[in-house]
Amino acid sequence: MEAAGKEEISVEDEAVDKNIFKDCSKIAFYRRQKQLSRRATYQASLDSATIGKDSTKFQIISETTKVSLLAEVYGIEGNIFRLKINEETPLKPRYEVLDVLTSKPSTVRLISCSGDADSLVLTDGKGDLKCNITANPFKIDLVSQEEVVMSINSLGQLYFEHLQIPLKQRAAKENKEDTSVDASQEDQEDLGLWEEKFGKFVDVKVNGPASVGLDFSLHGFEHLYGIPQHAESHQLKNTSDGDAYRLYNLDVYGYKIHDKMGIYGSVPYLLAHKLSRTVGIFWLNASETLVEINTEPAVKYTLTQMGPVAAKQKVRCRTDVHWMSESGIIDVFLLTGPTPSDVFKQYSYLTGTQAMPPLFSLGYHQCRWNYEDEQDIKEVDAGFDEHDIPYDVMWLDIEHTEGKRYFTWDKKRFPNPKRMQELLRSKNRKLVVISDPHIKIDPNYSVYVKAKEQGFFVRNHEGGDFEGVCWPGLSSYLDFTNPKVREWYSGLFTFSAYQGSTDILYIWNDMNEPSVFRGPELTMQKNAIHHGNWEHRELHNIYGFYQQMATAEGLIQRSKGKERPFVLTRSFFAGSQKYGAVWTGDNTAEWSYLKISIPMLLTLSITGISFCGADVGGFIGNPEAELLVRWYQAGAYQPFFRGHATMNTKRREPWLFGEEYTRLIREAIRQRYTLLPYWYSLFYRAHVAAQPVMRPLWIEFPEELDAFGVEDEYMLGSALLVHPVTEPKASTVDVFLPGSNEVWYDCKTFARWEGARTVKIPVALDTIPSFQRGGSIVPIKTTVGKSTGYMTDSPYGLRVALSTKDSAMGEFYLDDGHSFRYLHQKQFLHRKFSFLSDVLINSCADERGHYPSKCVVEQIFVLGLKKQPSSVTTRSSDGKDEPVAFTYCAQMSTLRLEKLSLNISADWEVHVR
Ligand code: NOJ
Repeated sequence: MEAAGKEEISVEDEAVDKNIFKDCSKIAFYRRQKQLSRRATYQASLDSATIGKDSTKFQIISETTKVSLLAEVYGIEGNIFRLKINEETPLKPRYEVLDVLTSKPSTVRLISCSGDADSLVLTDGKGDLKCNITANPFKIDLVSQEEVVMSINSLGQLYFEHLQIPLKQRAAKENKEDTSVDASQEDQEDLGLWEEKFGKFVDVKVNGPASVGLDFSLHGFEHLYGIPQHAESHQLKNTSDGDAYRLYNLDVYGYKIHDKMGIYGSVPYLLAHKLSRTVGIFWLNASETLVEINTEPAVKYTLTQMGPVAAKQKVRCRTDVHWMSESGIIDVFLLTGPTPSDVFKQYSYLTGTQAMPPLFSLGYHQCRWNYEDEQDIKEVDAGFDEHDIPYDVMWLDIEHTEGKRYFTWDKKRFPNPKRMQELLRSKNRKLVVISDPHIKIDPNYSVYVKAKEQGFFVRNHEGGDFEGVCWPGLSSYLDFTNPKVREWYSGLFTFSAYQGSTDILYIWNDMNEPSVFRGPELTMQKNAIHHGNWEHRELHNIYGFYQQMATAEGLIQRSKGKERPFVLTRSFFAGSQKYGAVWTGDNTAEWSYLKISIPMLLTLSITGISFCGADVGGFIGNPEAELLVRWYQAGAYQPFFRGHATMNTKRREPWLFGEEYTRLIREAIRQRYTLLPYWYSLFYRAHVAAQPVMRPLWIEFPEELDAFGVEDEYMLGSALLVHPVTEPKASTVDVFLPGSNEVWYDCKTFARWEGARTVKIPVALDTIPSFQRGGSIVPIKTTVGKSTGYMTDSPYGLRVALSTKDSAMGEFYLDDGHSFRYLHQKQFLHRKFSFLSDVLINSCADERGHYPSKCVVEQIFVLGLKKQPSSVTTRSSDGKDEPVAFTYCAQMSTLRLEKLSLNISADWEVHVR
């Protein structure tokens, strides 16, 4: 590796030692909130509340400090409430997150339906939800049909440290009244008010303590999900006996699993679900955040103890969620559902939906740190063809550059990058290269020089450019929070600026937490300064979001607005889904990491980030062949599908483990390509309707308690249930098939299972347990090509799985796969399929779209057809009937139609008699 100043930078410089990261006890604002929040009681002045068109405003006053806060309650379109709390007259403005909300949310006027000095009841006049505000102590209840769904500050954990004049100046003024926190010198140290030590690092806080916190009680809820990113279970755990969930973006090499420490990205948003309702809490704050979860299980009180009314109240369980952030304001959105799908729409209304990915990016990606040179790329590329394994994208890690100077090429290894890209292009393949946010300090590196000249780097608190060590050695970090920096950075991706790039080159943003080797917790000092004079602490969690935003914008601009970008990012925040894909960082080649990839991806998926994946094979270490195969099989059924490995690992291209394993991996990747029409249609759903691509079972079966905790299997859309094998030497897996009115068909054996049971499925090394839900129709490709580009014209098949009522539905979306014409010119095809009363109908699902395709449906496969048909005919839109040959298998109840030639974009019917 390359020398950095006098010191070598190596991967071991990254964190392996967990002591370099904080646990909660080492976080000063956490200690303060735990110790001090109960001391402060707040009282709302409801008699002077102003009920305006957009919001209702009132003061809240702390009884201890007498400092007054301003609360604003908004009703937002689509059953959303927003509560903002800020200081009424702060010493200086407090940071408010910009650029996450897609637009200013449309408000609905809240009207007061009752109230006095002690309480105020607001309603939007449409839904049944009411917002009951109590004055003393301050509390808000969200009430639906006389039932309290959620209470805010019912535990009195509202905490708001008002900005103060620094201690020394205060002492000079002898202002003794200001006693919001205990100011004795001893306590100061422990509470980290103006200074906080961690190891050899001292965080000097010019603004002093500025932490905020609030509690939410969710009545009747005990299943909570969300707040990525943690290497933890999908269902959030009780934190009462350990650390809170930490949201602080950090570069944690080989992160520990089943841990609540913060890793690469954060989405401060959680969902709670119970039988009759799903709700969401979106805490819009980009500073370090901690979330405590405490579930009080249902307690049954006897009638004699409590009386009949109390008994009814007390049987409900409750979960309390306590949010704490280091700084900023309280700006929280309460998404009231009531269904999971409603909550997804509500969240996407605020933060946007998943960007529609270019089709190639749903294929398989081949990465390694590093492919050595052009020859290496050529050989690996040829290896895929030789072994008849489809793939779409070749990746280049940091070594492709001239000394980790992004936007350059190592001239020895990659003397002719355009030639290399032309080779890939000739096979309809693409290239992704890495571009990190740190910029090598080098007066001969033009990116550095230009950024320096324009003052585009994050500054240190003394006013100079912030300098930290990363891959290239001493580096400065672009300040992506500055719109001018983003504009300039976007411009670096134009073909003329980025020498050697072509339109098949796409981008990977890594190390953008940001990772700063030898910095506190391997990141940037919190008192570094960003655009607008904001300290890094205010916006740490959104730094990576801004880099991906600028990169995606750059790729769009280089195509003059025509082409969809593809950008993978390691760090992310709420709303990152608008800019591309996310992966789970530096995992390890162990079975437990394969297993945890499922809940980690489910959590990302329900918090808006549908395009997510984990490094197939495990980044660190060498997977044995069996693990690698199982990982390919799992990855083939996860949204972002990329094999990746770190530098000191053995090569592990799919054909290096002997013929049998090559065959197994080939088969897994080919299954992915077969299902591409379904994947693409699911991404369209995520893009237009915010429905996650990869779904935990509770979303599809919200009324089924047994499904709420399942995380070793999941749904892809609403039709496929996948249960990847994540144990070594497995000969069976226990698959839970939900739904008492459901039937499920094994995708491999076509065996039919009734729902609401767990079945033991025998597995061989080539089994990927997956089941099609009765009642669904899944579009597939019947032949697989070298890459997605080779499959444009290849025929389709339809897999029809009949429900208990002998019907099925499905949909299909198609466009050119790469441009924005689907959006601006409505060049898309959206079809729906239905099977009802033995007739399969292909009809238009969206008349606005036009994208005629020559492709045909050549194969239809019906599962669960109970009786042998006497004839099958197709009917075209002009009413012409034609008989078609068919095969019926009575034993498996399957009907197979082959060699059909039914245009996918035309109306037609198939009659089974
Ligand atoms: C860390 C990333 O997580 C990993 O995927 C990458 O290979 C290395 N950085 C080197 O760029």
